Amino acid sequence: MTKLLTSLFALFVASATSFAHAQAAAPAASAPAAATAAAPAPQAPNSPKSLQAKVAMCLGCHNIPGYQASFPEVHKVPMIAGQNAGYIVAALNAYKAGERKHPTMRGVADQLSEQDMKDIAGWYAALGQEAGKAVGDKPAREPSPQVAALLQKAACASCHGANFSKPIDPAYPKIAGQHGDYLFVALKAYKTENNSAVGRSNGIMGGIAKQFSNAELKAIANYLASVEGDLKTVPESRFRK
Ligand code: HEC
Ligand code: HEC
Repeated sequence: MTKLLTSLFALFVASATSFAHAQAAAPAASAPAAATAAAPAPQAPNSPKSLQAKVAMCLGCHNIPGYQASFPEVHKVPMIAGQNAGYIVAALNAYKAGERKHPTMRGVADQLSEQDMKDIAGWYAALGQEAGKAVGDKPAREPSPQVAALLQKAACASCHGANFSKPIDPAYPKIAGQHGDYLFVALKAYKTENNSAVGRSNGIMGGIAKQFSNAELKAIANYLASVEGDLKTVPESRFRK
């Protein structure tokens, strides 16, 4: 995984560098070239400005069904297709600011401007969504009485919305149908403190996750994963011609 990321970065840096060279070369050229430079330049396929180049950094992990990460324990890479765009931007900003400590995602988010984040988030939010196919308001599968009591205790649905798929704020995540092993890792991360590589400092979820034992968080994660939602992993072959 690290190897893949390194080569993705190398690719990105290479194209960013050639772009920077092209920019730097422009003023050095003869004065009349200024007029040409003002005209909209055709997008080179690998230009760091193109949406395609921006998402290319993500595809190797977020668009491979069942792809697993091994840090801090083996779990599936979260599904982000169909997620709220506002939440994707908020999560990326949290990695960039170090509020979320996951080292790989911090490295990725560091490369992104606010505009890159918005563009990528919009693309992922729309990816795989089918017109007329909306998730209902009631989960198709009811929780066990034990899990129902846990969900009630912290009023999870009051923020994550009906069916855990309709958050009350665009910056809050959809959590229904997300990979259970990832949900468990994420929930534990909100409880983790004083660790330089693991943890999420979040005022809202920190206080909530700390009310539960890890066994309880696992039971919650497994139930949420079993509820049908909007989240998907869309393989590259489905949107690349
Ligand atoms: C090397 C694999 C890898 C690459 C490349 C990668 N990600 Fe991630 N991503 C992960 C893993 C693993 C996590 C879970 C991190 C955690 O536990 O906080 C994650 C988490 C996320 C999250 C948070 C999801 C959630 O539900 O909170 C977002 C958003 C995200 N990635 C977006 C992106 C974007 C956008 C790109 C490309 C610019 C990208 N990622 C590139 C592996 C990757
Ligand atoms: C007061 C509102 C609120 C309540 C109540 C709440 N959440 Fe959250 N939840 C949030 C917000 C906001 C975030 C995003 C935090 C961040 O940016 O890391 C979040 C994030 C999460 C995540 C991480 C999702 C991901 O993709 O990484 C999980 C899992 C989660 N909540 C589960 C729960 C569960 C389970 C409960 C009930 C036990 C609950 N939440 C109650 C607001 C809430």
